[in-house]
Amino acid sequence: MSKISALLERLADAVEHAEVLDRPAEIGQQLTGRLAAGPTKDVLSGTTLGHPLHPALVAVPIGAFAGAAVLDLTRGDATAARRLIGFGLLSAVPTAAAGVSDWGDTRGSERRVGVAHALLNVVGLGLYGASWLARRDDGGGKALSMAGLGLLGVSGWLGGHLAYAQGVGVDTTAFQRPPVNWTDACAEDELVEGVPQAVTVEDTPVLLLSRHGRLTAIGNRCTHRGAPLHEGTVVGDCIECPWHGSLFDLATGAVERGPATRPQPQLQTRIEGGRVQVRREEIRGLRLNPTS
Ligand code: FES
Repeated sequence: MSKISALLERLADAVEHAEVLDRPAEIGQQLTGRLAAGPTKDVLSGTTLGHPLHPALVAVPIGAFAGAAVLDLTRGDATAARRLIGFGLLSAVPTAAAGVSDWGDTRGSERRVGVAHALLNVVGLGLYGASWLARRDDGGGKALSMAGLGLLGVSGWLGGHLAYAQGVGVDTTAFQRPPVNWTDACAEDELVEGVPQAVTVEDTPVLLLSRHGRLTAIGNRCTHRGAPLHEGTVVGDCIECPWHGSLFDLATGAVERGPATRPQPQLQTRIEGGRVQVRREEIRGLRLNPTS
C-alpha cells in the first residue's frame, strides 16, 4: 500500500469511527427526512434513470472547477475562468440535493462518512464562492479556488469511499448468482396464501409469494440497501420495502417506486412432486449459459 493510500485509509477509518458526527447527522436527517419515497425522491435518487443520480451529476461541477483551474494555471481567460466557477457553483445545487437524498438513507459509519463528505463540500464551495466574488474586480481569488479544489478533492475521495468501499449506491444483489437450473426451494405446503416467504436457494435469498393461484419469486435482498423484503408489506401486485419504502413488482422485480434504482432479480417458479422449485429468469429471451 502506498503512503498516500495508507494515509487516506487512516482518514476514512477515523471518520467512520467519529461518533462526534452522529449528532449533526441526526439533526441533518431530521431536517431532510421529509423527503419520503415519492416522485421527487425518485428523481433525486436516480430511480427514473436506473442508476444513482448523484455520481453522474458530480462530474458537472468538478469539470467546471477543473476547467477554471486549468485557465488559472495557464494564464488563460480570466472572465471564462470566473464563468466556469459560477457555473460550477450553480450545478453544485442539484448535485448536493441528490447527494443529500442518498445520504438520508444511510446509517452508522456510512452516515458519518457522508457528513464529513458534505462538510468538506460546504467549505470547498464556500471558498469557490469567495473566489467568484474576488474575481469580480481584478481577477484575483485564484488561491481561494485552488484551496477549494484541494478540499473538494479530499471530499471526492470520501465520496468514492462511500461508493466503492462501503457500497452506498451499489446494487446489493450485483454479485448474486441465482441457479440457472431448476432448484429446490421449499415444500409446497410451507407456502401460506398471500404471505411473503423467505427462502435461501444456493446462497441466494429469495422471496416467494403464492396468491390467487399464482406463485412468484424475486430476490429477497432489497437492491437499494439490502433490507429483507419479505418483512415488507404487500401493496397490490407489489412489495413495499420495510426500510425506505421502495416498491417492487412481485412478478417481475421491476422498481415501481424508489429510492431503489435497480430491479430485484426475477426467478421462474414451478411445483414438482410437492416441492417448489425456482431458477433464474432468462434475460431478453436468451438462454443463459448454465455454467455462468
Ligand atoms: S433497503 Fe432501502 S428501499 Fe429497500
